[in-house]
Amino acid sequence: MRLRQILWLSLVGIVVGCNIFPSFVITPPTDDMTVVLGGLADTEPYFGTYRLANAPDVEMGDFLLASCGCGDWRVLFRPSDGGPQVQFPVQFYTVGEYSPSGSVKMHGSTDYNATDGMVDQDGGVFDGKAELALSRYIMSANRESAHVQSVDACGMCHIGEDSIYPLPPTHPQKYKTNPRVCFECHTVNGQ
Ligand code: HEC
Ligand code: HEC
Repeated sequence: MRLRQILWLSLVGIVVGCNIFPSFVITPPTDDMTVVLGGLADTEPYFGTYRLANAPDVEMGDFLLASCGCGDWRVLFRPSDGGPQVQFPVQFYTVGEYSPSGSVKMHGSTDYNATDGMVDQDGGVFDGKAELALSRYIMSANRESAHVQSVDACGMCHIGEDSIYPLPPTHPQKYKTNPRVCFECHTVNGQ
């Protein structure tokens, strides 16, 4: 009886353990890596989705990896259930000198969140993982080369009720009738 219980428990342990930890480790940059100052040469944003790490067919919402108007890059997780969105700055790392082609490591963290991933600059593809308040997710995104798409990214962070950095009331109001008007007065790197 006792032996059966132990066997049963260890079986449960193995099954649960494998499901919860499918080699989910967020790795900070190694000592031989250096930060890519200013971020990727191609500033077009990556649009995609994020999904549950242990049930990758369950989509949680929109994911965005984008250069913000202030010059740094951020990740944005916008849940489709209308819950609060999460965003924080990230940086890119390479071994040796940065090149605008090839793969680049992305990493960023805050007190409760961490993320890492790889940008394939030639293919315009991003794949990564994130731990947001102890929940684990995987993300995939594609670089959208159309100019209008990066304007849509501006809106994801600057327009709307729960925006990350709302426009001040004194800001020119033109965007209220045309949310894609940003580049008339701004560049992707701010100003
Ligand atoms: C991923 C979120 C995000 C995206 C996408 C984004 N921004 Fe921002 N932006 C921010 C945040 C956050 C700040 C506040 C700056 C800071 O970190 O202090 C900011 C600041 C700015 C500023 C003020 C810069 C300054 O020095 O005062 C401008 C202008 C701006 N953004 C324009 C844009 C434009 C134009 C786009 C589209 C190309 C854009 N942003 C896309 C998040 C974003
Ligand atoms: C008609 C010109 C114009 C357009 C169009 C425009 N902006 Fe601005 N924006 C400005 C000016 C001028 C300022 C600085 C004035 C100020 O700080 O109020 C500014 C400031 C900002 C700031 C900094 C606010 C702060 O708190 O310092 C952000 C962020 C920003 N714009 C984002 C955007 C985004 C996103 C769009 C598109 C949805 C956009 N702007 C469209 C002219 C424009």
